[in-house]
Amino acid sequence: MTYQGLLHKYGHLLDLPTHTRPVSLLEGNTPLIPAESLSRQLGGGFELFIKYEGLNPTGSFKDRGMTAAVSEALGRGAKTVICASTGNTAASAAAYAARAGLKSIVLIPQGKVAAGKLAGAVAYGAQVIQIDGSFDDALTMVVQISDKHPICLVNSINPYRIEGQKTSAFEICENLGAAPDWLCLPVGNAGNITAYWAGFKQYDGIKATGLPRVLGVQAAGAAPLVLGHPVEQPETVATAIRIGKPARGEQALEAAEESNGRIIAASDDQILDMQRLLAKLEGVWVEPASAAGLAGLAIEIAAGRLNPQGKRIVAICTGHGMKDPDIITRDMAKPQIVAPNLAALEAVILDG
Ligand code: F0G
Repeated sequence: MTYQGLLHKYGHLLDLPTHTRPVSLLEGNTPLIPAESLSRQLGGGFELFIKYEGLNPTGSFKDRGMTAAVSEALGRGAKTVICASTGNTAASAAAYAARAGLKSIVLIPQGKVAAGKLAGAVAYGAQVIQIDGSFDDALTMVVQISDKHPICLVNSINPYRIEGQKTSAFEICENLGAAPDWLCLPVGNAGNITAYWAGFKQYDGIKATGLPRVLGVQAAGAAPLVLGHPVEQPETVATAIRIGKPARGEQALEAAEESNGRIIAASDDQILDMQRLLAKLEGVWVEPASAAGLAGLAIEIAAGRLNPQGKRIVAICTGHGMKDPDIITRDMAKPQIVAPNLAALEAVILDG
């Protein structure tokens, strides 16, 4: 049967109201890519898979939650959706709202949103508003305005976002026949780690697939859950997770503790090194934040705190590299310029 999107496939496992009217871009069903070269590079002796969430319709995992949240909003009769965003949620909300015929408003931190994300939100017709502040300021504002006016909030505070995002855990269990031993993923506002943990627990309850240990990874300059207190001025090259007061921070800590896992921090250099390594070794180009889970895995293995031997590990790569091309191109040498003839080409590509 042809694939008809997440609500069609998993709606019966999601806690959504009966008024929900499916709005889908055939999101989900993303590949679980074996990463043998990267596994070897990290010492070998274990199975490593990349869940490539950048292959969702708008280029990030947000589409899983957005199909659920916008479908519920549409069914309820909402006319407008709103979110605060570091970029991916904005693009996703705008796309699903467009498809549903709803207006979308997105608040983004000024100057800190990657080009591909802002362009997406504009292309899908959102009203884009830059806030002279952080993501956390923008989130406070959208909570306030949606309390006061009939505008539907589609940040991951919205419970239907979490319901939709559980589906990735279901897919992993189906692909592997069981939960992996470890799940590594980036943590920003902490909706995704919350959703994975809920999804794995639910699927284990139905199919006895077991539970993974969860390694959540924040950027060192935006690591409130590692530090144990909010970060007033979060700073990181991984702008997607530049968040100092995660809305679902408590639940993220619970997921780490209940799963016998942990939340750690990776530096910007470690994140960018992993982004390059993953692209070069596996042909998988992700945005910086999306490499954080793997960067954290590398840190833990190198420090001897995580023994991967004989284990099966899944890393969630949350967004596509094309979202944030500037990170790669800003430091690169300009491609060589060659005269338009064979001899000139031979001179630059043949040895000796
Ligand atoms: N990776 C990417 C690419 C993201 O865009 C985000 C969050 C995360 C990881 C972290 O997920 O917030 O559920 O812990 N981006 C949000 C946004 C904040 O506005 O697009 P989280």
